[in-house]
Amino acid sequence: MNIRFARRMDSVHASTIREILKVTEQPEIISFAGGLPAPELFPVDDLLSAAERVLHETGASALQYSPSEGYAPLRESLAAESRRRGIDCSAEDILITTGSQQPLDLAGKIFLDAGDCVLTESPTYMAAIQAFQTFEVRFATVPTDDHGLISEELPALIERERPKFLYTIPNFQNPTGRTLAAQRRKTLYSIAARYGLIVIEDDPYGCLRYAGKTIPPLKSLDTEGIVIYLSTVSKTIAPGLRIGWVVAREEIRRKLTIVKQAADLHTSSLDQRIVHRYLTDFDSSAHIERIRQAYGERYAIMDATLRETMPPGFRWTHPEGGMFLWVTCPEGVDTNELLREALLRKVIFVPGQDFFPDSSGQRFMRLNFSNASPDSIREGIGRLAEVCKDAVHAHA
Ligand SMILES: Cc1ncc(COP(=O)(O)O)c(C=O)c1O
Repeated sequence: MNIRFARRMDSVHASTIREILKVTEQPEIISFAGGLPAPELFPVDDLLSAAERVLHETGASALQYSPSEGYAPLRESLAAESRRRGIDCSAEDILITTGSQQPLDLAGKIFLDAGDCVLTESPTYMAAIQAFQTFEVRFATVPTDDHGLISEELPALIERERPKFLYTIPNFQNPTGRTLAAQRRKTLYSIAARYGLIVIEDDPYGCLRYAGKTIPPLKSLDTEGIVIYLSTVSKTIAPGLRIGWVVAREEIRRKLTIVKQAADLHTSSLDQRIVHRYLTDFDSSAHIERIRQAYGERYAIMDATLRETMPPGFRWTHPEGGMFLWVTCPEGVDTNELLREALLRKVIFVPGQDFFPDSSGQRFMRLNFSNASPDSIREGIGRLAEVCKDAVHAHA
């Protein structure tokens, strides 16, 4: 039977690498591939108590339909959290979403027509590329270096490509782990304001800083109302809760709310109340501090083991927070091939290609350091280094 799918599905492809990675969830494989937080740090007991209190005290309303904008007390808590990050906002400015992935799709719906241009960092978050791709858009990319996207490149790109918005991850970017420098944030904002360019600032990792100084978000500079700020409890509490939020000016938030209504009516009433209860009754700051410490240690072990074992010619980033680092291989090494060899040695990573809208980036790999124990990191990086040595010899 010839099933007549929508034309938009022509531009959306399952990544071959994702398919390979799906079949590799065997326990003997050491994975640096996923983007998973450390499960042993999930605050399971506190969430159990929070859930019990919610169901015991307000069970019927927690199980009922609720407003699309979100549960009012949770909007208050998330506004307070956003203010702690330097964003001037109140509960009315918050839209609660189903993870911070959902607003990428919602933003696509309210801004993008077929043929429009989206500006992203190069490389950028794979699932953002996928989310925007379904709207049959073109991508233009802003080059990056160790200090994040190079803001000075923006005016020429904006004039040439006329993008609908810029999508950026300023803190501990996925996939590179890089952070946009403070001065570049100011330059970026003033250029965006000059051109009236909407900026989607995706900030799932900002709280996971284990070194250096916090840099205020772009949204904290936003006097014009052009920045749409996204964050999530996925990395600070647990991703299974699917609670994210948006801070945006009213005109934009209202449109996002309308398309959210059409997408899922509202984010789970029960999960919103559990998160609110958890944030109110338990010490979430102490919990985040434990995550920061653990990830800082794991990063340090990964970095030290890479330095001890990798052959010359391989470079990697030195993130001050988050969950990923990004390896640049010598010219000629293809990380898609490297992954096949690595699988034979029972270690996996994500090749760079899927993080580039134009599928370039064969020289790169993303390594996740949050989800493996220190011993597995040492063992896994040792195995990976052997694969890299073989690849270098093969190209010598
Ligand atoms: C940059 C970025 N944005 C958004 C998300 C989506 O997270 P969630 O929907 O769990 O909030 C992720 C998840 O890994 C991410 O890395």
